[in-house]
Amino acid sequence: MNTLILPVPEMVAEAIATEWVELIAANPEATICLASGNSPKLACEAFVRLAKERQLDTSRFFFIGLDEWIGVPPDKRGSCRWDFEERIFRPLGIRESQIHLFNGLSNDLRGECSRMDEVIAGRGGLDLMMVGIGMNGHIGFNEPGTEFSLRSHVIHLDPVTASVGQQYFDQPMNLDSGITLGPAHILASRRLILVAQGTAKAEVIRQAVEGPVTTSFPASMVQLHEGATVAVDAAAARLLRQNNG
Ligand code: F6R
Repeated sequence: MNTLILPVPEMVAEAIATEWVELIAANPEATICLASGNSPKLACEAFVRLAKERQLDTSRFFFIGLDEWIGVPPDKRGSCRWDFEERIFRPLGIRESQIHLFNGLSNDLRGECSRMDEVIAGRGGLDLMMVGIGMNGHIGFNEPGTEFSLRSHVIHLDPVTASVGQQYFDQPMNLDSGITLGPAHILASRRLILVAQGTAKAEVIRQAVEGPVTTSFPASMVQLHEGATVAVDAAAARLLRQNNG
């Protein structure tokens, strides 16, 4: 694991988007997995802009969604799918055949998990993942206590996740459980970028990068990944030892 610390979020986003564009230019059939939420937003915007400027062939890459809220319709503002539609699929004209996302309305959630695991295995694994970090140290919906050996799974959401998650919706939601790729997918991804910005994330970034590696703080798994970069602005990096001499 290494860290990339840049003064402002826009610079972090540009660096991530540039790498993402270069990856697809080199391997147009790359398999990419993204989180939704606030943290990846700027990088997605920069990616779409750069992809258009460079006339990147985006017709063949394959997109995997990291997670989804159980019981939330895919077209509802605040669902993970809604974020991807707005940020990536619609702006770049990504086709349904290029996408595999969890269906949070499925009445066969175990089937959803095994299908996701099969799709990822069938693609030969993930080439790039860009994830965020929750205020309880989760990645995806891998809440504190999740075993690092798990692949796709359904999980009862931590109260912190259920309450912080309300911000994405325009009305109060019952956010009780989620479906997510597991730590085993995250650790096996060939490239892993954890992105965060702002002072509110400084303490969780410190724990992820410098705290003990433990399932009680899932984001600490990044320390186990040789190809991981924790990409943060100065505000989110402000508690890191390396940033404070
Ligand atoms: C969303 C996801 C979550 C978020 C995390 C941080 O798909 O997987 O783990 O990445 O909760 O959320 P933001 O970026 O909104 O602070």
